[in-house]
Amino acid sequence: MKIRKAEPSGFCFGVTRAVDMAEKVVSDYPGQRVFSYGQLIHNRGVTEKLKSKGLETTEELSEIPGGSVLLIRSHGAPKGVYDEANERGLQIADATCPYVIKIQKLIQEVTSKGLSGLVVGDPNHPEVKGIIGWAQSQGLVDVIQNEQQAHEIDNKYHIVVAQTTFEREKYEAIVKVLQEKNPDIQVKDTICNATRERQDAARDLAKETDLMIVIGGKNSSNSKKLAEICEKYCPCTVFIENIQELSLKNPEKYSRIGVAAGASTPVSDIEEVIANMSEVITERNEMEDYLEAIEKSLRLPRLGEIVEGTVHQVTDKEVIVNLGCKKDGVIPKEELTLEADQKITDIFKEGDTVQAKVIKTDDGDGTIMLSKKKLQVNENWEEISQALDDKETIDVKVVRVVNGGVIASYKEVAGFIPLSQLSDRFVENAEEFMGHVLPVKISRVDKFKGKAVFSHKAYLAEERQSKMAEIWEKLSVGDVIEGTVMRFTDYGAFVDIGGIDGLLHISEISWGKLKHPQEVLSIGEKINVKVLSMNAERGKISLGLKQTQPEPWTVIDDKYQVGQLLVGKVVQIKEYGAFVELEPGLDGLVHISEVAHKRVTDLNDELKVGQEVNTKILEIDKEKKRISLSIKETLEPPIFEEQKEEIEEGAEDMEENKSFFDQVKDKAEDLMEDAKEKVEEFKEDAEAVLEDAKAKAAELTDDAKEKAEVFKDKAEEVLEDVKEKAEDVAEDVKEKVEKAKDEIEDALDKEETE
Ligand code: F3S
Repeated sequence: MKIRKAEPSGFCFGVTRAVDMAEKVVSDYPGQRVFSYGQLIHNRGVTEKLKSKGLETTEELSEIPGGSVLLIRSHGAPKGVYDEANERGLQIADATCPYVIKIQKLIQEVTSKGLSGLVVGDPNHPEVKGIIGWAQSQGLVDVIQNEQQAHEIDNKYHIVVAQTTFEREKYEAIVKVLQEKNPDIQVKDTICNATRERQDAARDLAKETDLMIVIGGKNSSNSKKLAEICEKYCPCTVFIENIQELSLKNPEKYSRIGVAAGASTPVSDIEEVIANMSEVITERNEMEDYLEAIEKSLRLPRLGEIVEGTVHQVTDKEVIVNLGCKKDGVIPKEELTLEADQKITDIFKEGDTVQAKVIKTDDGDGTIMLSKKKLQVNENWEEISQALDDKETIDVKVVRVVNGGVIASYKEVAGFIPLSQLSDRFVENAEEFMGHVLPVKISRVDKFKGKAVFSHKAYLAEERQSKMAEIWEKLSVGDVIEGTVMRFTDYGAFVDIGGIDGLLHISEISWGKLKHPQEVLSIGEKINVKVLSMNAERGKISLGLKQTQPEPWTVIDDKYQVGQLLVGKVVQIKEYGAFVELEPGLDGLVHISEVAHKRVTDLNDELKVGQEVNTKILEIDKEKKRISLSIKETLEPPIFEEQKEEIEEGAEDMEENKSFFDQVKDKAEDLMEDAKEKVEEFKEDAEAVLEDAKAKAAELTDDAKEKAEVFKDKAEEVLEDVKEKAEDVAEDVKEKVEKAKDEIEDALDKEETE
């Protein structure tokens, strides 16, 4: 008969915390009254134990005398309870589960902005009442618990949260209805998996057992639900509150018994039930042993049976064993495991108790042949079976690769390790494990069929768990620790933080936007990460890398000023401009008018994503978190550019035309030579003509001289005539003038006389 416990079972994280806190408070405040606001936990045994230690329970704050200690249970309480307790001078010990506090804060935050919230859960549950009590004002938060109500309510809600223990499938169906009505509603996953995990574990165990014992308070809805689930898969399910209620008529008829408990049942209750059941089993075994002893004395051992007897005689060749039956057994030397030089008498003496395996029931002379060696194999099987029961680790050596896995030996026993169980990573080729000694957990043992299945992966998982527990103890949210990048997924990277992996989500890697973690990280890289959250129930740790560096806008003044020239990378192109990344998380906008000196109509003609560009800071608006950049201002003025281009083009043309000019020049020189020669020829011709002309002129001069002489003679003749005539005229005039003069004088004389 085997008893197995569903894992996880019993107290969840939040209830453990609340019970521990209650015990601490009653012991830390001796002589002071301590009140739990409502029943601390739905478990009579626990509440009575705490009551005996001094914890009182009340639903009314007014009943608590001033100066007392008020313990808030894991369900939490409305804000008004805290306010009133403070006013009345009560000391508060707050055991509200952190998962519940998260919901209270969400509701408080949303309603403080005047927005409405919706809680999906049981309106009469203390957790839900407590959550509503954190709303800024009444009427801002409503509660629904089914799809029908989701259809009926209006769509004014900004956020929807769930009671931590609400059924996930139901919540998802309700959320679907809400989202159809209002796609913008913020949906928060606030369901705690503790209940679900306990239900899943109980269901799995119930499928494999003949008897299922569910332990939990009769007034605990979670425990009742657990019993219902188990009954579905194991018709023989008993629901008890404590060991006193357990009365099984014929426990021996069950060979596989399962025990499960809800989140409000202490581990001690579970252990008590298991211990009690074990006693029943032991008693039954004792009776069986007694009957077996009688039976044994009456019969001879069978072939293959393991027998125990007393050493009756030891010789160099064999050991004679009294088996308590009609015949003795004999272990020959070759069936003993002896070290070199070891004698049989060194290890066996008369009276020793010895175990051996029956290898022959009749050797011809009536003795029973026994083997210690074969027993060794048997013992090894026992060890393996024991290790399976105790969930212990054994070391095995990989000896052979076979289809689908490897064969590994544990002493004299060979077992199988499937490929999927060789590691916690994907194994492509099992050859790499050949000859390795691996610590393993035992998955299955069938001694009679000689089959054992091992799992190295299960060992690694357990190691991880214990390391996790160790790290969990030391680690706190906000710690910065060193880790190693182990592997990537599309949504982030897993980082080993000393034996366990934490998730570094892609959004927590850089202040900038990443498409894949590979853009900034590489496998095996050591990085400092900050612990962002820890989920003890799910064993998950969220890490952040960007949080180890300042957010760029908080140190903007230290690094950037207006007018500064920088190199950035184009990360996005819009119609109105391009976004340039100056550093991860810090982008600036280059407006389309600031891209080039010329007019740009399509930015894609000028820039492309990923291109590095020189920029100048035009403006930094810290309030709006905007940076204006210019590429244009880092470029040369366009006129210079044009001229330069023209000059360069002219130079190219000149270069091209140079040979043409040289040809022209040569031609011109040839023509000049020709011209010179022609001129010389003309000159000579001209001189000849001149000579002719001179000669002609000389001839003409002689002619002219003769004609001139003729003219001269003629002229002299004419002149003589003219001269004679002129003298005649002059004589005539002179006579006339003398005559006139005489007449004038006569006239004058006459006048004087008168
Ligand atoms: Fe807390 Fe989840 Fe338990 S919400 S009280 S850990 S069931």
